[in-house]
Amino acid sequence: MREVQITVPIQVFAFEELSEEDRSLIEQAKAMTLTSYSPYSRFQVGAALRLADGQVFRGSNQENAAFPSGLCAERTAFFAAAANAPEVPPVALAIAAQTKGAFLKDLVAPCGACRQSLLEAEVRYKQPIRVLLYGTEGVYVIPSVRDLLPLTFDGSELA
Ligand code: THU
Repeated sequence: MREVQITVPIQVFAFEELSEEDRSLIEQAKAMTLTSYSPYSRFQVGAALRLADGQVFRGSNQENAAFPSGLCAERTAFFAAAANAPEVPPVALAIAAQTKGAFLKDLVAPCGACRQSLLEAEVRYKQPIRVLLYGTEGVYVIPSVRDLLPLTFDGSELA
């Protein structure tokens, strides 16, 4: 038997310590929480995805009475970007969430399905997507989606 340790590089910043570009992306994710359609969970999530050419695609969670038919904020933003600007790699994703009228103190982290979807973009465009997870007490910055999804199934096994 041998043990394998997997470590995830995460930097935690105060919002004010971030670059203007990152702060802007987070502000856009926060603003998008207001467009969330979440009558079932009342959990409002916003996402903003910056592409290599500076374009930003935004999304919010969109729920449905048939629960699995809804979609998370991250994939709403990502699929819009992939459909409208398929030639431009995404480079950074910011996520924010609020519930009961307040942004989360701790970060909001993307669900497993969103991590898997976003990983596809890292493979497709051959470059990492920085992930910025907003909480009122700090912003977690992770260098790539792959870091959030250890032991990935990324399609290379299909070759
Ligand atoms: N949700 C997101 O949009 N993104 C996340 O990272 C976590 C969860 C949504 C899905 C659902 O509409 C609600 O939040 C509660 O799970």
